[in-house]
Amino acid sequence: MFKILRKQELSENITLFDIDAKDIARKAEPGNFILLKIHEQGERIPLTIADFDREKGILTIVLQKVGKTTHQLGALHEGDFISDVIGPLGISSHIENFGKVVCVGGGVGIAPVYPITRALKEAGNKVFSIIGARTKSLLFWEEKMRNVSDELIVTTDDGSYGRKALVTVPLEELLKDGNINLVVAIGPAIMMKFVCKTTEKYNVKTVVSLNSIMIDGTGMCGGCRVEVGGETKFCCVDGPEFDGHKVDFDLLMARQRMYPEEEKIAMERYKEKMGTK
Ligand SMILES: Cc1cc2nc3c(=O)[nH]c(=O)nc-3n(C[C@H](O)[C@H](O)[C@H](O)COP(=O)(O)OP(=O)(O)OC[C@H]3O[C@@H](n4cnc5c(N)ncnc54)[C@H](O)[C@@H]3O)c2cc1C
Ligand code: FES
Repeated sequence: MFKILRKQELSENITLFDIDAKDIARKAEPGNFILLKIHEQGERIPLTIADFDREKGILTIVLQKVGKTTHQLGALHEGDFISDVIGPLGISSHIENFGKVVCVGGGVGIAPVYPITRALKEAGNKVFSIIGARTKSLLFWEEKMRNVSDELIVTTDDGSYGRKALVTVPLEELLKDGNINLVVAIGPAIMMKFVCKTTEKYNVKTVVSLNSIMIDGTGMCGGCRVEVGGETKFCCVDGPEFDGHKVDFDLLMARQRMYPEEEKIAMERYKEKMGTK
């Protein structure tokens, strides 16, 4: 059993949990994720390790409430327990001094991009960060990202905070200025697709972290399969990070939308049970 040590509402629909998970925190690296099950009969869901304190044994996760399990998890409180947490999973981020890098986080993707940004800064890179959301109330971790970046640009689609632009606009300006050696982008698949289309024009290597549907997380079920460079890869064991220029994003998005009916029914049943319908 894994105890929730702290809960913080970061923005509308986005919640942070610090979890007591000593063995996982001790081995965590930027780019890793966990699979968790709230209770014995619960669904397994993957969440990125957004931060970790190896000495105190604390793991930080940040979740966006999108369906039944994330709503159920978001309803837990400090002191509650999560029955299963497995990790750290996935291949950790490749960190070295590349030179000038741009880290892009969109929506809840700001959380997973944070530990990578910090590690790239610690490795001596000049780090430009761009964080963006649809609107101000969905933004979080601005100060945390500023502290690990040489320059931070904040965007909102509706202009309610920062620059009124999609993240690709300041990204293209940085690329035009030249000498960017690497771009790391994490966010909705559609955002990562357009980040990659932008960086392709400038021939700048781009790493993305894919959020395909996962089941076992061990490379056995094939549920998380994605196509990268014309080959089938399993996001859980071969990723979750891949060369963005080789990813078939349209297939990823189609596979993410495979179970809308089942997801709707599960959410309706959950609401009924909680009396919120
Ligand atoms: C490696 C990885 C890291 C992730 N990190 C984060 C994170 O840090 N924070 C965060 O908020 N979300 C993260 N996600 C997405 C998160 O796992 C899904 O939002 C969650 O599983 C949805 O479950 P649900 O029951 O609430 O919603 P559902 O109603 O079941 O589904 C809503 C949508 O979420 C996606 N989804 C559903 N089930 C899964 C599943 N088992 N695995 C992956 N996606 C699923 C589908 O696209 C679906 O349309 C990550 C996914 C992956 C693969
Ligand atoms: S989740 Fe089953 S193979 Fe990746």
